[in-house]
Amino acid sequence: MNLHELQNQITKLKSSLETDLSSGGDLNAKYLGKKGLFNELAKAIQQVGPTDRKAAGQLLNELKTDLEQTTSSQTSVSQSRETETDLTMPGLKPKVGHIHPISQAMEEIVHIFEKIGFTIVRYPEVDWDWYAFESLNMPPTHPARDEWETFFIDLPDTTKNIPYDVNNPRARHPSVAGGKILLTPQTSNGQVREMERLGKPPIRMINIARCYRRQQDATHTQMFHQFEGLVVDKGINIQHLKGTLDYFAGQFYGAGTKSRIRPFHFQFTEPSFEVDFSCHICHGTGVLKNGDKCKFCKSGWHEVGGAGMVHPNVLKAGNIDPDKYTGFAFGWGIERTYTLQAGLNIDDIRLLYSGDLRFLEQF
Ligand code: PHE
Repeated sequence: MNLHELQNQITKLKSSLETDLSSGGDLNAKYLGKKGLFNELAKAIQQVGPTDRKAAGQLLNELKTDLEQTTSSQTSVSQSRETETDLTMPGLKPKVGHIHPISQAMEEIVHIFEKIGFTIVRYPEVDWDWYAFESLNMPPTHPARDEWETFFIDLPDTTKNIPYDVNNPRARHPSVAGGKILLTPQTSNGQVREMERLGKPPIRMINIARCYRRQQDATHTQMFHQFEGLVVDKGINIQHLKGTLDYFAGQFYGAGTKSRIRPFHFQFTEPSFEVDFSCHICHGTGVLKNGDKCKFCKSGWHEVGGAGMVHPNVLKAGNIDPDKYTGFAFGWGIERTYTLQAGLNIDDIRLLYSGDLRFLEQF
């Protein structure tokens, strides 16, 4: 027998299997049994010349896998037919999911601020350079941008011919000048947008959005979420900021949680602060009841984000008179805020976006 004849035999055998499939019967024995059709054909390999033997072996191997698959699917079909007829079997419960832990945290945060009269907004996550930097007192070449400049959209800069003028920040507004576009590194781009939307104070805003930065480790992801608070009105001072932070700490982390502000620098607030919340495990002492050092915070406090009194140049950029109005702003990451909640023990925030159900189903 040569290779061509063997191929013909194989085709014949396959078509007879096809016919047999519809009529049923023990196909496994007929085709793959000891004295089955496959073994009979396999014997023919001895008649194949030595040069073609390898190819013939390969053809037979493929045929065998084919036969095994076809006959086993025949048995599983007939088995499942049997189970289908048992109408008394209990049904299969569909799997029900739940919203992602970060969406849960957002809902909680929104609810907390709505109770004290904040309006929830969502401003663009891909925005003009002007809203992300220039309106926030960061001129085109200012070094404070270094920390934030991240992912730009590759488009020509149309603002080049209009010089930057600190006394006229709206001269380069995107409605006149267009400008560069980027993925926002922080939610502060919503500050001047909200001033523009309302036209004049009072402003009480929470802006929630995705942010993007060049960072990736156990406590940072390139895409993350922030929420930004902004309050502008007559007579707003640091005490209002501190009171709002304490209120949030108590609501989100539980009664008794305190906030702490430490001097810092942001280009868009003056004065600026870093914001800490007292540790819910050692209650801000850094020491456990048994005298051991608290391993969760090490110092009694967790740093969560930034805040400050809105810089007069930012108010000007939003067409608000800084001699009449003052304001405070704060902003920080939702992932970080959430993972500090009691009992969560999430030591790597990348897990939140791993799409691994074993992780997500725990929340
Ligand atoms: N945008 C700052 C950050 O991402 C936080 C901040 C918001 C600081 C508002 C001051 C005022 O770190």
